Formats: sequence, C-alpha cells, structure tokens
Amino acid sequence: MHPEADMHPEGGRFDSCHPHVTDTDQLIAALRARAPRLALLLAGAQVAWPIASKLRRRYQVQACYTVKVPGNDEIYDDLHEWVLGLMTLREQRALVAWTGRRGFDEFADEFPPDRRAAEPELRLRYDGARVQAFTVAGHPIKVHVRDDSDEGRDSTRARPPEIVFTAQSLAGRQALLAEIAGVLQRSRQASRPATFRMLDRRGSWTRLDSLAPRDLASVILSPGQLERLTADVARFLDSEPEYLRKCIPWHRGHLYEGPPGTGKTSVARAIASHFGMDVWYLPLADVKADGELLRVASQIDPRSMLLLEDVDVFHSATARDDHTAGITLSGLLNALDGIATPHGLLTVMTTNAPDVLDDAVVRPGRVDLIEHFGHADEAQVRRLLTRWYGTEVPGTTGITGVAHADVIEACKRHETPSGAIADLAARVPEPLWVTGA
Ligand SMILES: Nc1ncnc2c1ncn2[C@@H]1O[C@H](COP(=O)(O)OP(=O)(O)OP(=O)(O)O)[C@@H](O)[C@H]1O
Ligand SMILES: [Mg+2]
Repeated sequence: MHPEADMHPEGGRFDSCHPHVTDTDQLIAALRARAPRLALLLAGAQVAWPIASKLRRRYQVQACYTVKVPGNDEIYDDLHEWVLGLMTLREQRALVAWTGRRGFDEFADEFPPDRRAAEPELRLRYDGARVQAFTVAGHPIKVHVRDDSDEGRDSTRARPPEIVFTAQSLAGRQALLAEIAGVLQRSRQASRPATFRMLDRRGSWTRLDSLAPRDLASVILSPGQLERLTADVARFLDSEPEYLRKCIPWHRGHLYEGPPGTGKTSVARAIASHFGMDVWYLPLADVKADGELLRVASQIDPRSMLLLEDVDVFHSATARDDHTAGITLSGLLNALDGIATPHGLLTVMTTNAPDVLDDAVVRPGRVDLIEHFGHADEAQVRRLLTRWYGTEVPGTTGITGVAHADVIEACKRHETPSGAIADLAARVPEPLWVTGA
C-alpha cells in the first residue's frame, strides 16, 4: 500500500465551537454611559473576533496532516476494521455490513453459482459519511471516507473511495503511519486464501474474495497433464534464488489452447488455488491504452497469476497493425516481458485459436509452456460422471470426443448417470457417439 500524506484543506474539520455572544450591541450601548472604556473594548473585540476566528481556522487548515488510502488498496478493508475496533459500540452508529462480493456481478458469467462460496463471511465497516474521532498514542485523529461514486458521475471516471485520516500535528501523523504499518503487517501475516482480482471499468483492481477455491482433483484431464503443469509451476515458484543469481526476470508464461469447455480456465484457477497464488484477471478489451496496461500490470503483487483469457480475440495479440483503438501488440509484449513486469509473475493466457497468435507473443520468455486441452475421451467422460454422481459408472459410456463442459451440463440436467449418458448420446453426432463401443 502507498498511503499518501499531504497537507489537506479539509483540516478545517477540527474547528471547535465558537462562543456565541448574544445582544452584544445592547450591552455595549448600556455600558457606553457608565463604563465607556469597557464599552470601547467590547466594541473592538466584536470587530476583531470574526477576523481572529478566520485566521485561527486558516492556521488549523495549514497545521493539519492527512493520510489517504484508496479503496482499491489491499489494506483498505483491514483499515476499516481497525478503525471500527477503536470505537466503542455506542460510537459505531452508521455501519455497513458487507460480504466482500463487490463487483461480483461483473464476473458472474465466468463463475456460475455452483462455484461461489456458499456462505461468505460477514464483515463490518463504518459508513464513513460522518467524521469519527479517536486517538492514536494520545494524538487526536479524525477519519472519514470520501466517496464520489454515487454522485451520478460517469462510472469510468469516478475515483475509488478513499479513507482519509487527519492528524493535528506531525507527531500525530507519524504515530498514525506507524499504526497503519502495523495493520499492514498483521494483514500480510494472517493466512488467507488466494484472492481473485479483476480490473474494473475505472481501471482499478477490484477484489472478489468470496469465490470458492477450485480443487485440482475436480479438473479431469488426460493422464499426466495436470502433474506436468503443477510440476512446472512448483519448479518456477522454487526458483526465485536461481533467477536472481542469474540476473534474469523471474516470470513465466503458460498458454492453454484448445476448444471451448475443455478446462483451460478451470485449470488456471485450480493451479492458483493449489499454490496459494492470487489471480489477477485482466480483460484486455477494457484496457484503453498501452500506458494503462503497463500501469495495471505493474500493480500486480509478486507471486501472482495474471490471467488473460481468449487472447486470440484481441487485435493486439494477433496483428502488428498498431493503428486501432485500445492496446497495441508492443504494449502487450512489454506488459508480459518488460521492465514493469512484476516479480514472480505467472502469466496464463487462454485461447481457442492458437494459430492466429503473433509469433512474438508466444516466443520463449513470454510463453514458456504451451499446453493443449482436448475434448474428453471415454475414460475422462466416465471420470467426470463418477465425480459428479459420487458412484462408479460401470462399463463403458460409449461417449467420447465431447467438451468436458457439455458433460457437466448433462449431469446438471439429470439425476442419474444413465440419464446424462442418454442426453449426451442424443446431442453428440456420430462418429463421436460410438454405439456399443
Ligand atoms: N477438464 C475439465 N474437468 C472438469 N470440469 C471441466 C473441465 N473442463 C471444463 N469443465 C467444466 O466446464 C465448465 C467450463 O470450463 P472452462 O471454463 O474451464 O473451459 P474453457 O476451456 O476455459 O472454455 P473456453 O475456451 O470457452 O473459455 C466449468 O464449469 C468446468 O467445471
Ligand atoms: Mg476459459
């Protein structure tokens, strides 16, 4: 995280109440005859008071120090919980209860309901609309949340919300920064499941942390394929010292190619779950320019997976003509294997059409391993059915050469393996459907 510290005009929020003088004019008039000096003094004070208040306010504004943490920062939610923990229950007046599914709908198609966590954890934060006060090591601190996302702005231009802390002194700000560093350290030490992030339309990474992890055993591939892939990733993750010694950038690229519904995305997620790597899903079509691509790629944490789906459909990956809108081939290549590529990055690209990819994209260093995902053969169909229904499917199904996704869909529609087999047989044209085989 990068807390941004600066002088902030909103320091004026620290204003205390002004004493309210009533009927001063009457008092001055009454005193004028009996105590002219006192009346004169009061009249002078009446004129000087607003000027003094203004000066005091200006001084307070300049004497305030703020620390802002943007809403897309990894520590944002933990900071909210920390602040809440500093308040008494009575002070916690405006709470927001949430489940960490922000932005989930944008990605719902890719991850259907059966793969979401059944019971997301309930988390609390305060709504941030009202300024809250607390102390850190004896220093008064105020906090509020600045959020302009609901103000009818164009969603692509709205900034993410920010939690804004204001200290009255430099010492207060330093104490606050030390506490924030502590929150960050505790959050990093806490064992947490791998998270899933997606680039939203504002160009910020959004964390979708209630997606269920994908078990490696749930992905059915040809014999040895999963072992080959996991061994490659394990070797890569273990090889950081070797890369550092040889002064070569520590990153690796996988390309998964094959027909739709054969497990490319599923394998990527299962590998990430298995190795505890965060997944960063970057829809290339939503990235407006090369600079933005580099910026968002450089924000990816070390030891993460960058998932680029269906790379063949993006112009930048298939053609060298740089005149169209959006990112260019060189921008994509720089992000995959350039100066801003994060340390320990595993890039996984998927495609249904590997032949149209530019050679420069799949050259070693950008793509180190190309893995073909084929249709399920008879043995795989049987394993899929066995896993779904929880019972061994005896004999042969006679179904081969189908997409794994089609088998899963047939299972969803039928209560028994025989129902699913009949369904698949009716859909799959000969010779893929081998009668009596
Ligand atoms: N090899 C597999 N083993 C188990 N389930 C699979 C497999 N392949 C696909 N599925 C199931 O089919 C659905 C779609 O799979 P997935 O998204 O991984 O396919 P894909 O190869 O990425 O397809 P596309 O090329 O269309 O992106 C998922 O629900 C997944 O559970
Ligand atoms: Mg896919």
